[in-house]
Amino acid sequence: MKILVVGTGAREHAIVHALAHEADRPGAEPHELHAAPGNPGIGGLATLHAVDQNDGAAVAALATHLGVDLVVVGPEAPLVAGVGDAVREAGIPVFGPSAEAARLEGSKAFAKDVMAAASVPTALAHVCTDVDQVAAAVDAFGAPYVIKDDGLAAGKGVVVTEDRQAALEHAAACFATPRRAADGTPEDPRVVVEEYLDGPEVSLFCVSDGATVVPLAPAQDFKRAFDADAGPNTGGMGAYSPLPWAPEGLVDEVVTRVAQPTIDEMARRGTPFVGVLYVGLALTSRGTRVVEFNARFGDPETQSVLTRLATPLSAVMLAAAQGRLAEIGALRWHDDASVTVVVAAHGYPGAVRGGDPITGIDAAEDVEGVHVLHAGTSRADDGGLVASGGRVLSVVARGADLAEARRRAYAAVDRIVLPGSHHRTDIAAKAAAGDVTLAG
Ligand code: AMP
Ligand code: GLY
Repeated sequence: MKILVVGTGAREHAIVHALAHEADRPGAEPHELHAAPGNPGIGGLATLHAVDQNDGAAVAALATHLGVDLVVVGPEAPLVAGVGDAVREAGIPVFGPSAEAARLEGSKAFAKDVMAAASVPTALAHVCTDVDQVAAAVDAFGAPYVIKDDGLAAGKGVVVTEDRQAALEHAAACFATPRRAADGTPEDPRVVVEEYLDGPEVSLFCVSDGATVVPLAPAQDFKRAFDADAGPNTGGMGAYSPLPWAPEGLVDEVVTRVAQPTIDEMARRGTPFVGVLYVGLALTSRGTRVVEFNARFGDPETQSVLTRLATPLSAVMLAAAQGRLAEIGALRWHDDASVTVVVAAHGYPGAVRGGDPITGIDAAEDVEGVHVLHAGTSRADDGGLVASGGRVLSVVARGADLAEARRRAYAAVDRIVLPGSHHRTDIAAKAAAGDVTLAG
């Protein structure tokens, strides 16, 4: 197949890596892979095209020109901007929802409305339009306080704090940020105040063609910047899969109670959801609750999930794009474990320093079971690789179990040299030690 992947991150590199490695199977034909705009790592596996990922007309024109069989839109911004719609209108199968359906991620208030209509269990929430309403909601729920910017904020719009003043300050900052709808019209900022959910978090990616739901293997993500879940929320500092501690039947429960009713509700509204519904869950003392929906694969969880997928990813995504996912059946998995550690630039998730040289990737990939995916990298004038974003690399390791995958991942991280970089040292540590406890 000829496939165009849209995006620049390690998630897109993971997708391209999975597609490229389908050719390792006996008798398989290699795909012709393209990326827009991609990154230097993706460039080792696919042809890069310097096209703005948020420009639907440009992406559709490129896909038409290349004559691709499938377009995969990785990140949320192009989805919310309608890149999927533009490609679909050009008559090309696309894996990724319409702008209307991507509102499940683009607006937390919209997601709450769909969850209520579909009877999906989630945190109680108040949608507020000024700081006085936030103060009232905060006092009604009590600490810890959960304050969310309604719009897209790259994982950084959420503050969870015991400090009432900090909660109100975050809300005030959200209200002070000008907003625009997908069509460019100005919008009033909104803030969602939620009930606090205890218990471990799970990310479950559910592929859908608008009607059928096929779950991937569950993963766990580490959102806070520093070890022991200290520091601010980030886009994600590491992940692992599978979850040895997950209760039996969790995936079935989430498909039955969350994903399928949500997909059905979106279809009922005339805005069917095609792509990955990312279900972020908390396993609380009062049962399984949705923390958030996203309209795409999670980053960095995808890096650990896709490396374990044995069913060809291209077949799954094309079937979803063409409305024939029911033909695919349950997915097959390698029965090993994977750990992903994100190497972040100096200053992330605050103001990051760009331009630091990156070396040691080849040495890192010499560690058994390891591959390194690029996110915030670019080529300097002399051709050397430099950091150019917050999350710079994802180091992905597979091993017989989480303990082995962890050892390999950190041995590889130690071989990478990036001045000023930081990473968490406790990714999957509790799970590997059998120390994750379910709220009871
Ligand atoms: P979100 O962008 O909604 O996923 O929120 C980012 C992170 O904030 C989540 O992954 C959780 O770690 C945390 N969080 C969000 N909502 C809640 C909640 N209601 N209770 C506790 N933690 C939350
Ligand atoms: N890992 C969190 C996200 O992709 O939103």
